[in-house]
Amino acid sequence: MEKIRVGVVGLGHRGRHMARLVQDAFDHCATVVAACDSDPVLWHETQWLQQKPMKEILPNAVFYENYIEMLDHCKIDIVMVETGADVHASFCIEALNRNMDVFSDIPSVANLKEADALWKAEQASKGKLMTGANPNEWGFINALVDLYQKGLLGKPYYMEAEYIHSSLNTVESKELTVHSPWRKLLCPIRYCTHSLGPLLRIMEEDLRYVVCMGTGNHFDDDSQKDNMSAALFQTESGVTIRLLRNGKCRAGIGSHSYRVFGTKGYYERLDSRGAQYPAVTRFRSDDLYGAHDFTILPSGMMANEYIYNPKASGHGGADYALMDHMFTAYLNGDAEYPISLREGLRMTLPGIFAEESSKRKGERLRMTYPWDSDWSTEF
Ligand SMILES: NC(=O)c1ccc[n+]([C@@H]2O[C@H](COP(=O)([O-])OP(=O)(O)OC[C@H]3O[C@@H](n4cnc5c(N)ncnc54)[C@H](O)[C@@H]3O)[C@@H](O)[C@H]2O)c1
Repeated sequence: MEKIRVGVVGLGHRGRHMARLVQDAFDHCATVVAACDSDPVLWHETQWLQQKPMKEILPNAVFYENYIEMLDHCKIDIVMVETGADVHASFCIEALNRNMDVFSDIPSVANLKEADALWKAEQASKGKLMTGANPNEWGFINALVDLYQKGLLGKPYYMEAEYIHSSLNTVESKELTVHSPWRKLLCPIRYCTHSLGPLLRIMEEDLRYVVCMGTGNHFDDDSQKDNMSAALFQTESGVTIRLLRNGKCRAGIGSHSYRVFGTKGYYERLDSRGAQYPAVTRFRSDDLYGAHDFTILPSGMMANEYIYNPKASGHGGADYALMDHMFTAYLNGDAEYPISLREGLRMTLPGIFAEESSKRKGERLRMTYPWDSDWSTEF
C-alpha cells in the first residue's frame, strides 16, 4: 500500500509533536514527506523536550522555509496546518485551492471574513478539511455522547465548561511562549474550541446568541489579554452554555471540566483539584435502573478502543485518536472527515462573537454561520 503523504506547516511545540506522532505511530499507513517553518532553527536544532532535531526525527521529509514552495514542489496528500492559533485559514485555503486535504488545528479561523473564505474554498475544492479538535476524542466525552444517544440524559438544556490553564511563570509556560506570540495575545474566549467542541457533539442546534465579559489584565506583565473571560451562549430554543476561559491564573487545578443538565439526567467531568482530588466522571439518570443516585463512570481521557494500544498518546491519547480517525477516513475514501470544517466553525465562531461582545461591554450578539441564509461577515 502506498503511504499517505503528509506535509506539515508550523514547527512550534504543537507542530513538532503532531509530526512526530504521525512518523512514530502511523508508520504503517502514513509518512511525513515535507515540513515547513519560516524559522529554520526549529528544523535544524534540537528544541525543548526533544532528544534530537526535527531533521533527524523526520528522515523522509524535505524542509521548506516557504509554504507555497512546499505546496507547489512536493506531492502531498494531507497538509497539517500547525501555525499559531490565529493564523490557520490562509494556509488551509492555499492547500484546498490545490485540491489537497487539510488537517487544521483549532481554532479554525480568526475572524468572520476568514470563515467565509475558508468555507467557500472547501466547497470549491476536491480536497476536504479535518478539524483537529482533540478534546472531542476523549474517552469521558465519548461516554457523554453514549449516555446522550441512549436517551439516559434526556434533552440537555443547560451546560457548563471551563478551560483553566493554570501555568504561571513555570518552565512550561515560559517554554511554550518562546515561539508562540498567540499565547500572549489571543483573547482567552477565542480559545473556546476545547470546551464547546465536546458539548456540541450532543447538540443538534447551533449556538445563536452570546454575551461575554473579560476582566482586563490585573497581573500578567507578559500579556496584553484578559486574565479571565466568561461567556454565556444560547441556542434559538434556549439551551444555554456557560464557559470560563483564562490566560494565566494561580488556581493550580486541572484544566478541563464539563457539566450537562438534561431533562432526564446529569453528567459531569470535573478535572483534578490538587493531588487529593483526581479528575472524576459522574452521572445520574432517571431512566437507567440503579443510576438514580450519583454514579462514578470509569471513563478517563483515553478512548476505550485505544486503552491497550501502546502507541496511543498525546493529550491522553486524543491526538492519536484524531489522526487514526482521519487516516481511516482518508483510506476509506469517505466524503467527509469525522470532524468536518462545519464542526470546526460551529465551535470556533462563538469565540469570535464572544470577543466582540466583550469589547462591547457584554452586549448580546446574534451569531450566524456560513451555512445560514442570513450569514454575514459583519457583526
Ligand atoms: N489541540 C491541542 O491540544 C493544541 C495544543 C497546543 C496548540 N494547539 C494549536 O496548535 C497550533 C500551533 O501551536 P504552537 O503553540 O505550536 O504555535 P507556535 O506559534 O509556537 O508555532 C507556530 C509555528 O508556525 C510558524 N509559522 C508562522 N507563520 C509561518 C509561515 N508563513 N510559514 C511557515 N511557518 C510559519 C512559526 O514560525 C512557528 O514556529 C495552534 O493553532 C494552537 O492553537 C493545539
